[in-house]
Amino acid sequence: MAGAGASQLSPRWMPFLSLLAVLCFLATQGLAVKENDFKKCSQSGFCKRNRAYADNAIALGPSWQAPYKISSELASFKDGQFQATILKTIDEQGTTVRLPLTISFLKSGTARVTVDEQRRQEKDIELRHNSQIRKERYNEAEKWAIVGGLEVDTEAKVSHQSETGIKILYGPNLAFEADIKYEPYSIEFKRGGATHIKLNDRGLMNLEHWRPKIEKPTPEKKEGEEGQEENKDETPEPDPTEDESTWWEESFGGNTDTKPRGPESVALDITFFGYEHVYGIPGHTGPLSLKETRGGEGNYAEPYRLYNSDVFEYILDSPMTLYGAIPIIQAQRKDSTVGVFWLNGAETWIDITKAKETKNPLALGGTDNINTRTHWISETGQMDVFVFLGPTPHDITKNYAELTGTTAMPQEFSIAYHQCRWNYVSDDDVKEVDRKMDRYNIPYDVIWLDLEYTDDRRYFTWDSNMFKDPISMGKQLDNHGRKLVTLIDPHIKNVGGYQIADELKSKGLAVKNKDGKDFDGWCWPGSSHWIDAFNPAAVKWWSSLFNYDRFKGTMENTFIWNDMNEPSVFNGPEVTMPKDNIHYGNWEHRDLHNINGMTFHGATYQGLLSRKKGELRRPFVLTRSYFAGSQRFGAMWTGDNQASWEHLGAAFPMIISHGVSGFPFSGADVGGFFGNPEPELLTRWYQAGAFYPFFRAHAHIDSRRREPFLLTEPYRSIVTSALRLRYSLLPAWYTEFYHANQDGSPILRPLFWTHPSEEAGFGIDDQFFVGSTGLLVKPVVEKDKATADIYIPDDEVYYDYFTYKRLPTAKGKRLAVEAPLEAIPLLLRGGHIVPRRDTPRRSSQLMKYDDYTLVVAVGKDDKAEGELYADDGDSFDYEKGQYLHRVFKLEGSTLASTDAEGRNAKSLKEGEWLKRMRSVFVDKVVIVGAPPAWSSKTEAQVESEGKKFSVPLEYHQAGGGKTGFAILKRVGVRIGADWTADFS
Ligand code: GLC
Repeated sequence: MAGAGASQLSPRWMPFLSLLAVLCFLATQGLAVKENDFKKCSQSGFCKRNRAYADNAIALGPSWQAPYKISSELASFKDGQFQATILKTIDEQGTTVRLPLTISFLKSGTARVTVDEQRRQEKDIELRHNSQIRKERYNEAEKWAIVGGLEVDTEAKVSHQSETGIKILYGPNLAFEADIKYEPYSIEFKRGGATHIKLNDRGLMNLEHWRPKIEKPTPEKKEGEEGQEENKDETPEPDPTEDESTWWEESFGGNTDTKPRGPESVALDITFFGYEHVYGIPGHTGPLSLKETRGGEGNYAEPYRLYNSDVFEYILDSPMTLYGAIPIIQAQRKDSTVGVFWLNGAETWIDITKAKETKNPLALGGTDNINTRTHWISETGQMDVFVFLGPTPHDITKNYAELTGTTAMPQEFSIAYHQCRWNYVSDDDVKEVDRKMDRYNIPYDVIWLDLEYTDDRRYFTWDSNMFKDPISMGKQLDNHGRKLVTLIDPHIKNVGGYQIADELKSKGLAVKNKDGKDFDGWCWPGSSHWIDAFNPAAVKWWSSLFNYDRFKGTMENTFIWNDMNEPSVFNGPEVTMPKDNIHYGNWEHRDLHNINGMTFHGATYQGLLSRKKGELRRPFVLTRSYFAGSQRFGAMWTGDNQASWEHLGAAFPMIISHGVSGFPFSGADVGGFFGNPEPELLTRWYQAGAFYPFFRAHAHIDSRRREPFLLTEPYRSIVTSALRLRYSLLPAWYTEFYHANQDGSPILRPLFWTHPSEEAGFGIDDQFFVGSTGLLVKPVVEKDKATADIYIPDDEVYYDYFTYKRLPTAKGKRLAVEAPLEAIPLLLRGGHIVPRRDTPRRSSQLMKYDDYTLVVAVGKDDKAEGELYADDGDSFDYEKGQYLHRVFKLEGSTLASTDAEGRNAKSLKEGEWLKRMRSVFVDKVVIVGAPPAWSSKTEAQVESEGKKFSVPLEYHQAGGGKTGFAILKRVGVRIGADWTADFS
């Protein structure tokens, strides 16, 4: 292996070899998509076997006999848990393998189905194992992904039991039922008496049991046969479902994976009855509503794959794997949402098909139901499935968040605008960009340093020629409340005299190869080792490296970017680590590959929590690779996209998909990573990016500079307006992050999520609501487009956000909205109140104590309601009550602000931030859709903190329309106080 050999060469060759490795990598990337560098299902032994298994079962139809059954005498139900043993018949003599089954009914109403494999005779295991490897199925995905929600519901009870099965009632008001059939084994999950989800519906469950490796003698060749072609006609075709050729070894792209444990995949089919739309299993490109994967017009021919990979120049509309994996799927039909979470950290493939189930046409109300059938296939591990029965999308979100946690409360700056490129080349360069942003009055919060700031790609060091004085750079940024993010990757340059590498090696904290030596591979620095963040000692060590006195040149406004943590290994199989590498706890890399990125991200998060004694601040860490639970540690982005209209269009479905799968803090590289966007594209991308929860512009090292101030007019002003729009709405965005933090709610909400009764919206993924703000957006993502057709999902009143003009009611129709280059199609739904800050400033930090504006959009019932959550945006003091949480309500002619949680402000000891917020006011209130009768009014009566006063009211016609808007200026009520404004 190039990497291993190179490590023995003299150090003076290392820089050249590093460069060579990187050049080789780049050369192989070319312009063409690297689809062939990644496996298709037919090139992945376990995927191929399981697809063949499915084909075989389906072809046999009713005569298919699934080999799994529960033996009734081994089944029991107690304290919210059903326990049994599934017997798998493995040969014609009836030999069985025992698979312990546990079904836990959780307090949240979630059911968890776990199937393990009972160890058989030791001698089998001896045969199978490399002595270093753990002799169990991987059972630690839970340890990394799950943080709560596992309390068992002891109220769950048996409603019926017999020799053939058992029915268990559980969930809220015992409205859910699990109907477990023993032979063949299957479970139907019912709500309100109807089946919504069935596990093993088609009998495709397959748990490849462990088996001894039997060396088969190679057939002796008779004299004279040398060199002769085998007589193909006499060689029987291997049974593809039992294709042994990839059981013990498998090669792809010149790499061979040794498989000391042999075949051990887990697969299960899960059917959603009556559900046509399924969402989730990010990250993939392609539409939010997932496609079928077994061929046919408009469908994919490959299953969706989850195997975290560095897919350079990824293609669009594809089930190919990307950088992260969240194995949750939710199914939507009118007024009902259900879902499953497949907790497995190994390589996973998911086939999706949809089938019409024709009801008896003579039966009353007989309609065709679409059933979505999914087939989950993972390489190793236990079978561990969580079943959610909804009934709303919000229920699924909450249930999943209870298990895997919610979005960390962000550093407030991190939801503002980030300026990045590969690379800002020196501290002077950074300072100059900073000055220019100011000169052109363009707000930004963060500037980023990619790879090249380091001393020859040694992380935690600086290139001392180019970054002579990082602290003075940090200080200049801090003058305007700005921050710096630096890149720290998980590969550690394997070179002598580099302290981090020396410590990694001497402490034994690196990932090991199959022979138990520190794994060596190639990444940006050339020959490298990888920190094993599954090891608690490695996490402890790693987190100490971020202390200010260790990572010199960093200060309080430095934060971190974790990249390449799939992990990317340039010379590894499928650009990642060999699966037979070994991690802490003697698990093979194959068992936990998809969790790897999250452990590294988590370790960095730990590092930033406290960088000096006594300091406890919220970290900000961006990650490229992720798993279920990564939302607890920071933000993600969609990796190396391209400066094309197609990529701009593809980003929203991707970001939305992450949001509804529990990871809302996500974004795409604004402008596109590869290539050079034309000004129109870049401008539209900023308008779109202003609605990404994570809003960062980034560009490849070979792309031309494209900071917003380099744009000519009118583009520069348009981009600046988009940025200002984001900044003015930061209070609303922050409130939505608060909701995401509370219960896992998505921030970009697609129509299926907000309007689960409106089927016409289920396939729409190019427009969305921003949280609960009532802002409905459809950014333009096509060239030369000057209108947008916005689908209106309800009969509420909608207003144009910018002109306050009331739009015609259009429930179930598309409204054409004008969208010339300078316009972002943005509507305001009646019934909402949006908090804003209108004074333009250089950074969010400088807006911290600015007064607020409230935009009240009068609903069809003349009411409106909204919220503001605010805290210091930096510490954890909010956990001690140091926050403001207001609810604003317009009812009749009164607008009122009260504490959203009914707290008594007086009972709270105010910390520094709350004290300063005492002098922050509501400056302006805009009442959009104010009735025409208000046109004669000149003032409103305001009452707050024992004082009554009148505030001047201006009434305006909105764009010549029938309705108008009213403005109260200098309202003068404290944002934290209760107040009312009376317009009667
Ligand atoms: C990877 C990242 C990209 C970064 C580059 C250099 O390609 O995805 O964002 O700029 O590495 O660090």
